Amino acid sequence: MVVFLLQYQVTSQILQKLEVPGFQSSKIPGFNPEPWNFGTWNPGTFFMKKTIIAAKSDNHVIGNQQQLPWHMPADLAFFTEQIQNGYLLTGRNSYGTPEGMGVFANRQDVILITRQKDYAPKGIYVVHSIPEAFELAEKLEVQQLNILGGAEIYAQTMHLADELIITEVHMTCEGDAFFPAIDPALWKEVKREDHPADAENPYAYSFVWYART
Ligand SMILES: NC(=O)c1ccc[n+]([C@@H]2O[C@H](COP(=O)([O-])OP(=O)(O)OC[C@H]3O[C@@H](n4cnc5c(N)ncnc54)[C@H](OP(=O)(O)O)[C@@H]3O)[C@@H](O)[C@H]2O)c1
Repeated sequence: MVVFLLQYQVTSQILQKLEVPGFQSSKIPGFNPEPWNFGTWNPGTFFMKKTIIAAKSDNHVIGNQQQLPWHMPADLAFFTEQIQNGYLLTGRNSYGTPEGMGVFANRQDVILITRQKDYAPKGIYVVHSIPEAFELAEKLEVQQLNILGGAEIYAQTMHLADELIITEVHMTCEGDAFFPAIDPALWKEVKREDHPADAENPYAYSFVWYART
């Protein structure tokens, strides 16, 4: 197993460097890939709090075929409250999902990451790398940066985040996008709120806050 993971890691780094189309190590459940394409961003003296916000199933699924695999109004309400303040950082895929269209509509404080130079939705910021996103946020003196995924963006920013706010949806499901492993050596759970399923929310769920160890 260890040999497999090492081989996988070396291969994945090569593939990522070569930018092989369609290669996404974030699609491997529970495996935390090395950040890639991070470049040379060096934080300035200005402190910007970077919070990853995500909902995941018990088997770490966050999405399936560019949609959320569940309908959980309680999580939607919680999520909406969490992102009231601060800028929103999103990958291009998540921006275009049905949920994304609801979340990002009528907001200008959005930083979208894409490699496509000609993809330029109006009224939001568009950048072409993770370092560029963080540099822009610093330039804008953003105090709170909410990192909203999806899988590719979570995988590339986990090592930069100060805080994780995770909704655990207590079910297992099929999926093609996964949240990276949360390493207990790096993250400690600091708060948890458990809720049972109810008439509107078909699964029990927990809101969990992690801080850096
Ligand atoms: N449960 C949750 O909390 C949650 C939250 C968000 C999303 N999701 C789910 O996650 C899935 C989407 O995740 P995803 O991994 O497919 O897509 P994603 O992370 O939202 O976006 C990936 C895209 O972002 C751009 N990108 C990624 N890394 C980049 C880099 N280093 N430099 C420049 N551009 C970069 C690329 O856009 P281009 O192809 O345009 O170059 C890439 O195709 C959906 O199923 C969605 O429903 C779930």
